[in-house]
Amino acid sequence: MTPEATTQGGGQAAAGPASSDATNTSKAHPRPRSLPPVLSKAPPAAMVIFGASGDLTARKILPALARLADRGVLDDGFTVIGVARTAWTDEEFRAHVAEATPEGGSKWKALTARFKYITGEYNHPETFSTLKAHLDESDRLDGTAGNRLYYLATIPSVFGLVAEALAEHACTRPAEGGTFARVVVEKPYGRDLDSAIALDEQMHAAFDEGQIYRIDHYMGKETVQNVLALRFANAIFEPIWNRRYISQVQVTVAESLGVEHRGGFYETAGALRDIVQNHVMQVLALTLMESPTSTEADRVRDEKVKLLHAVDIPTPDEAVDKSVRGQYTEGFIDGEKVIGYRQEQDVSPDSQTETYLALRLRVENWRWAGVPIFVRTGKRLPARVTEVALTFRSVPFLLFDHRTSRDLRPNTLVLRIQPDEGISLEFGAKVPGEKFHVRSVAMDFSYAEAFAGMESADGYERLIHDAMVGDATLFIRSDEVQQAWRIVDPYLKAWSEPGGGMHFYPAGTWGPHMADLLVERSGDEWRNPVIDLELSGGRLTELPQ
Ligand code: NDP
Ligand code: BG6
Repeated sequence: MTPEATTQGGGQAAAGPASSDATNTSKAHPRPRSLPPVLSKAPPAAMVIFGASGDLTARKILPALARLADRGVLDDGFTVIGVARTAWTDEEFRAHVAEATPEGGSKWKALTARFKYITGEYNHPETFSTLKAHLDESDRLDGTAGNRLYYLATIPSVFGLVAEALAEHACTRPAEGGTFARVVVEKPYGRDLDSAIALDEQMHAAFDEGQIYRIDHYMGKETVQNVLALRFANAIFEPIWNRRYISQVQVTVAESLGVEHRGGFYETAGALRDIVQNHVMQVLALTLMESPTSTEADRVRDEKVKLLHAVDIPTPDEAVDKSVRGQYTEGFIDGEKVIGYRQEQDVSPDSQTETYLALRLRVENWRWAGVPIFVRTGKRLPARVTEVALTFRSVPFLLFDHRTSRDLRPNTLVLRIQPDEGISLEFGAKVPGEKFHVRSVAMDFSYAEAFAGMESADGYERLIHDAMVGDATLFIRSDEVQQAWRIVDPYLKAWSEPGGGMHFYPAGTWGPHMADLLVERSGDEWRNPVIDLELSGGRLTELPQ
């Protein structure tokens, strides 16, 4: 972590080891008196966006930059050069920027007035010679000081091509005098293990590993970073964070949206490549890894890699047996009728792409051996919710008979990543009354309430900032990407064989019935995150019967 990053009010500063100094304990409800700056000031730089006319740029990157500018994080010597095939002039690009950032304030508007755009194919050398000339001009006229941040927000199949072309045009090596040249690379990074290794070779021919920032926007979410704080800033969880106390782990990444206008992209990806290989593996690694020796980027990444390395690799038969893939058919979301996946724009009418996926994983190490790890993700599920739920083993002997304790569920710690960010602990309590009935209740921590009035940066804002200041902690190292592909590759291979199977589910339901059976085989069931969400309101709340 850079010195700049440690001054932030973000999640990492809290991620150090718990203090054992009893005189240093904070007050019962510490509230900051004044708000610390959310992000430190970034150095001057020219940011080159490949894919400047695309969806990600309009929906995430430009709004994140606008917020960074208006917070005063961007230097006066910051500018953007967009590159894509759409034939735009600089003025047309600036109009597009303005349309994508209606909330942008005066600082942002002042910066955007000098943004530039290059219309060009990535396989045409002229695109890159024009870019080189623009970069030199920005150093002279805009004060970008020789610093370059390339953002590959384009289709993954051209990532390597762009890196090679940048190297051929002498754009990838930092100039003398402490300047930087860094590249942010979007996901998915490769299509499988072999292509990820091949892409790494292309990238490493152009950039050193230290210049490459592989982005996973889940790592920019405060609640994902808070997994580190929860685990390593508190003494109470670590002793029970293992197979002796935890009976199963469930990771859910559910979306109510369908593929929208991204059908073309999604057909080449599917839920495994789009969500599991990256977002789920990152969340899982932070939740299950050993304690790093510091919050320094490589120490955290070392532990994530070790954890991913311990995830069991199934044989082809096991891969079929331990996975359920599904595709949504027409159904209802919030009472509105929605079409099925095969009817979506740019989707083949006999598509075999999965929009839902459930996996049963094993982590083969001393901490987690024997604990089933269930993972599920899907589009057009009943709600947008991402959470990790750790269920604790039942008591060795239950004092209460079945009739008075039938509403008692195993203790569960739920890390709610989104929405309604927070943490809840479900435990049994006596129902008021003469009879001794016990049932589950939830004790809830809500981010919004505990840190009321404190702003936090969204994932892209945080990560773009970190790339500018050179803090790689939340970015993904080459070996992490490869380990994650190593885990998911067998499923990809197994599904391409006859019998790989596809199970359909109506939009607005929690996925195919087969996925329930996957969990039930272990004597468990999927949680219903919506019920929990609705009932936990930052207080002790009762759970449904
Ligand atoms: P889009 O298809 O919307 O945009 C692709 C961009 O790349 C366009 O600007 C397109 O230019 C440009 N482009 C493609 N091929 C070429 C080429 N040969 N020469 C020049 N320009 C080219 O994709 P997205 O924005 O959705 O996705 C971009 C990346 O971001 C992908 O890696 C995706 O996985 C990742 N991502 C996207 C998310 C999202 O919500 N959209 C979320 C997380 C990651 P033009 O159209 O002008 O030809
Ligand atoms: C992206 C996927 O990486 O993550 C999308 O490409 C998905 O398909 C999105 O919708 C989900 O992100 P979030 O932050 O909304 O959970």
